[in-house]
Amino acid sequence: MRTYILSAVLILLLVISIFTIPNLSKQTTYRDSEQQGLDEQITIHFSHVVAENTPKGRTALYFKELVEEKSGGQIHVELYPNGMLYNDENEMTALQHNDVQMIAPTYSKISNDVPEWGVLDLPFLFENETDVTRVLSSEVGDTLRQALEKQGIHGLGFWQNGFKQMIAKDAPVQTLADFKSKRMRTMASNVLAMQAKLLGATPQAVSFDEVNSVISKEAIDVQENTLSNIYSKSFYKEEPYITRSNHGILGYGVLMNQRFWDSLSTESKGIITLSMQEASAWNEKIARKMNMDDEQRMKAYGTHFYTLSTHEKARWKRTLQPLYHEFQQKDYRDILDAIERQLHQKTPTSSQ
Ligand code: SIN
Repeated sequence: MRTYILSAVLILLLVISIFTIPNLSKQTTYRDSEQQGLDEQITIHFSHVVAENTPKGRTALYFKELVEEKSGGQIHVELYPNGMLYNDENEMTALQHNDVQMIAPTYSKISNDVPEWGVLDLPFLFENETDVTRVLSSEVGDTLRQALEKQGIHGLGFWQNGFKQMIAKDAPVQTLADFKSKRMRTMASNVLAMQAKLLGATPQAVSFDEVNSVISKEAIDVQENTLSNIYSKSFYKEEPYITRSNHGILGYGVLMNQRFWDSLSTESKGIITLSMQEASAWNEKIARKMNMDDEQRMKAYGTHFYTLSTHEKARWKRTLQPLYHEFQQKDYRDILDAIERQLHQKTPTSSQ
C-alpha cells in the first residue's frame, strides 16, 4: 500500500513539473530588449594577405576598432590577415560570392578584373606619396571606384603602402644590364609583366604567400616590393641587395561586396564611410614611417642598400616609356590624362 501511495505521489510530481518548468529550447529563443540588438548585429569578414604589422595590416585593425566603437559594437569586423582565409588568387572571387565582405588587394591585382586600375602600375608616374593621395582624392579616384561596380564591387577607398624598390639575391640591380636573363617575381598584372620584359627580365607572377617558397627553390632572382613588405616577409634574409629605385607605387583598393553594401542601413553605411575616412588619413601617416623604420631594421641586420643614380633612373624611365604608349592606345587614355592634369596642378608643398 505504501509503495502504491509513493508511486502515485511521484507521478503527480512529474505531471506538475511538465506543466510548470519552462521548456529549455523555448527559453533560448526568449528575447528581452537588449537581446533584440544582437539580432541586428552585422559581421563584416575582412580578408587580406599581409602580416598584421604592416601598413595595411595595422590600418585594417584601426578600421575595425573605429567601426566597432562608432557602432557601439553592433557592427563587428572579423579580420583574417596573412592570407589565412584567401590568397591573391582566390580573394576576389570570395568577395564577389560574398564569402567575405571586404578585401584590400593591391592596385596591380585589381587590374586583372578592372583594367583601368593598371594605370597606377605605370612606372615613375608619381614622385611622392602626397601626389598619390591628392590624385586618388580627385575625379581619378571616383572613376576608379565606379569602374569596380561592373564587377559587383563597392569601392570604399584607397590605402597606401609606399614606393616599390628592387630586391635581388646575388648582386644589386642598378644598370639595365643587371636585369638581363633574370627571373623577376611580379604581382599578377599585365603592366608589371610588361615592365619586367622591358627591363630585360623574365616575369613570373607569384602569389604573395608563395614568394618565400619560390625564393627558397631559387626560382626567382629579383623582385620589387615596398620596404615594409620586404621586412615583414623576411625577404631580405635570402635576398640581401636592395636598390632604392622608387619606380612604382604599391597601394590598395579597399573593396566591399556590392550586394552586402546595398543591404546596409543608411546609418551603418555612414559609420563605415566615416571610419574609412579616418582610417585612410591615419594610414597615410603610418605607412611612410613604417617603411622608414623597416629600412633601419634591415640596415642593422646587414642588408645592402643602393640608391639608383639620377643617370640610371633616367635610363630606366626611357626604357619603360613604351608602357605609357601602350596604355594610351587602350580605352583608358582618359584616366591617364586625368592623372596628368592633376599632377600638373601640383601644389608647391608636395615633396618627396
Ligand atoms: C600586399 O601588400 O598586399 C602584397 C603585395 C605583393 O603581392 O607583393
